[in-house]
Amino acid sequence: MNVLITGGAGYIGSHTCLELLNAGNDVTVIDNLSNSKFKSLQRVQSLTGKTIKFYENDLLDIDAVQKIFRKNEFNAVIHFAGLKAVGESVTKPHLYYHNNITGTLNLLAVMGKNQVNNIVFSSSATVYGDPSSVPILESFSTKPTNPYGRTKLMIEDILKDIQLAEPQMNVALLRYFNPIGAHASGQIGEDPNGIPNNLLPYIAQVAVGKLKSLNVFGDDYDTLDGTGIRDYIHVVDLAKGHLKALEKLEKAPGIVTYNLGTGKGYSVLEVIKAFEDASGIKIPYKITDRRSGDIAKMYADPTLANNELNWKAELNIFEMCRDTWNWQSQNPQGY
Ligand code: NAD
Ligand code: WQD
Repeated sequence: MNVLITGGAGYIGSHTCLELLNAGNDVTVIDNLSNSKFKSLQRVQSLTGKTIKFYENDLLDIDAVQKIFRKNEFNAVIHFAGLKAVGESVTKPHLYYHNNITGTLNLLAVMGKNQVNNIVFSSSATVYGDPSSVPILESFSTKPTNPYGRTKLMIEDILKDIQLAEPQMNVALLRYFNPIGAHASGQIGEDPNGIPNNLLPYIAQVAVGKLKSLNVFGDDYDTLDGTGIRDYIHVVDLAKGHLKALEKLEKAPGIVTYNLGTGKGYSVLEVIKAFEDASGIKIPYKITDRRSGDIAKMYADPTLANNELNWKAELNIFEMCRDTWNWQSQNPQGY
């Protein structure tokens, strides 16, 4: 297959490019490098011995996107490109709505014009908001609590409406839980700009000595040890889920929605412990106030994806922490 990956230089995108190339696909990436570096793709090329066609362009530039489609014949698109920082989306909602929604509308317009009918979209467990119970099923109600999450839900709705009007379209909406870890080589991984917002990159930067100590956001939740529980999923398992979703689209299913998670929840303190076991490094931390907008417990029921995609997350929390540490210790300053 010839696959276009938007946002392919980013964290999940680069891991997905690697899996696609190893499975014998051709890969083209469009990325404006606003939150990534071309080096990630250079490393994917040297790890696979294969070439990626790369366009440094913005999805907001519809003429540039159209030119790329005119020069290439794509069988499918995996759409990762988007801004993803929850806190920033609250302070810069216009930026988030414009980048994520307009970027997607441009992509879809060009796909339609060029009869490219298969798309996998990076949605998020954040569309569920604060769930009424766990584990979370795809049928649960959606009520995101921040602009970032609302862009994800709006794009899901846009894709549903377009698929309804154009039944030749095949759409897979993948709702990721909490992706962590890195490729086993330690050559590609998560490289956030500035101080990390998310737990694992923060812990890894404490371990490598870039940050002093971790703040644990609250220990008074209604959970086993009082800290928040999440469904962490290894980024390589997640990347493999995209290959399975592409296979599903080949069967012309119309529109499908899947949770991609492990189905297991771990608390912040359990993750710290797993990271310490995997790295042999003690992580200093202190308990602070809750972070506004945080939810006590989120984990997936991944049964639908297990059954319909023939996909299952294989790697455990120890392996996720081991690979995060392998990446961070080999690349203390990122790329
Ligand atoms: P990332 O920031 O590493 O990757 C996104 C990529 O998109 C970056 O390389 C960025 O430069 C590019 N990009 C952004 N706007 C663009 C535009 N207008 N035109 C071209 N390129 C653009 O993020 P990630 O963690 O790899 O996430 C990938 C996707 O998965 C995102 O859509 C994100 O919202 C979604 N997602 C991520 C998580 C997570 O925790 N990492 C969880 C759920 C969903
Ligand atoms: C995990 C747990 C924190 C940092 C976010 C987005 C979500 C999705 C994945 C894109 C929570 C605690 C964290 C720290 C801490 N992204 N924590 N100290 O909030 O579950 O999800 O990323 O779609 O939309 O909201 O992930 O890694 O930020 O937090 O104690 O310095 O770690 O309170 O319990 P979250 P996270």
